[in-house]
Amino acid sequence: MNITNDIRYIGVNDHDIDLFEGQYTVPNGMAYNSYCILDEKIAVMDTVDARFGEEWLANLRAVLGDRTPDFLIVQHMEPDHSSNITRLMDAYPTLTVVSSDRAFLMMKQFFGSDYPERRIVVKDGDTLSLGDHTLTFVAAPMVHWPEVIVTYDACDKVLFSADGFGKFGALDAEEDWACEARRYYFGIVGKYGAQTQKLLSKAKTLDIEKICPLHGPVLTEDLGYYLNLYDIWSSYGVESEGVVIAYTSVYGNTKRAVERLADELRANGCPKVALTDLARDDMAEAVEDAFRYGTLVLATTTYNGDIFPFMAEFLHALVERSYQNRTVAFVENGSWAPVAAKKMKSMLEGSKNLTFAETTVTLRSAMSADSEAQITALARELCK
Ligand code: FEO
Repeated sequence: MNITNDIRYIGVNDHDIDLFEGQYTVPNGMAYNSYCILDEKIAVMDTVDARFGEEWLANLRAVLGDRTPDFLIVQHMEPDHSSNITRLMDAYPTLTVVSSDRAFLMMKQFFGSDYPERRIVVKDGDTLSLGDHTLTFVAAPMVHWPEVIVTYDACDKVLFSADGFGKFGALDAEEDWACEARRYYFGIVGKYGAQTQKLLSKAKTLDIEKICPLHGPVLTEDLGYYLNLYDIWSSYGVESEGVVIAYTSVYGNTKRAVERLADELRANGCPKVALTDLARDDMAEAVEDAFRYGTLVLATTTYNGDIFPFMAEFLHALVERSYQNRTVAFVENGSWAPVAAKKMKSMLEGSKNLTFAETTVTLRSAMSADSEAQITALARELCK
């Protein structure tokens, strides 16, 4: 695949993976992107996951013909991109590896060598000339690890964005970009909104025509769309109006209550109601929805004097990703001592700029006339 006249795609698709980064389901697989810039000097941009070393090297060799690469640019040391560094350095003894000082520390940790005789250490603003193409390195710490650099090629107006603007899904999967990019962003980078904002502000100073991430498709058109979504996500803004109801239910009574709430929200004109069963549905999708919409209803059972485990896991996932700027309501169930609403609220007490609904729905085992009235009141309150 030609990205430009001089930039070639040499990445791979992974349809064998069960869990990306050991936890995320990826029903349409994953792409590990890598690129080669052909100029007077040749630069390889990152490597790929360990399982695809042969395929990736074959892709590289097909692009190189009888030439030899000069530089390996390592933007990110997470093993889905760095696992073939040693292999490439061994295959091409004249190759120089270019990366940040922190990346070289990790290289030694992962692979036992930081290539002291064959390396160039770069920092924010440093450049590397390949001939016509001059690469400018931009520090992007915590997007998504501390060593990350992204790379701008002013010649072709290309930003190599590392994990930024990546998504789940192999490149041969036909699927909506935003859905799997949002799940990827909030799952993997969501905690680091401030750092992503810093990177976006640097990107705004560059004339960019193409974005080449390490996962997902190369972005070539309507870049404003992607930049705007990244701006909303990383500033914890509300992307879509609507209500997410995240629930757990042991015997179906809490589920019946939230389904009734969903019906009443729709009847009151709520533009979108998303229901998610935290024990059965994809947790990363639930997290993504919580950050997408402006209102979140949390419904769970009192359990061992606390809350049901899947709800605790969900709330932990939100808090560690700096959940903020939203309206939150509670539905609790308890047959003898309901404390779930209080417990859920206490887990969110450190979160910024949350508005808690006045109405809390309390179920005593199952719906009753009292709790039905609370559901009606909550639906009205959230749709005001
Ligand atoms: Fe795609 Fe943070 O590695």
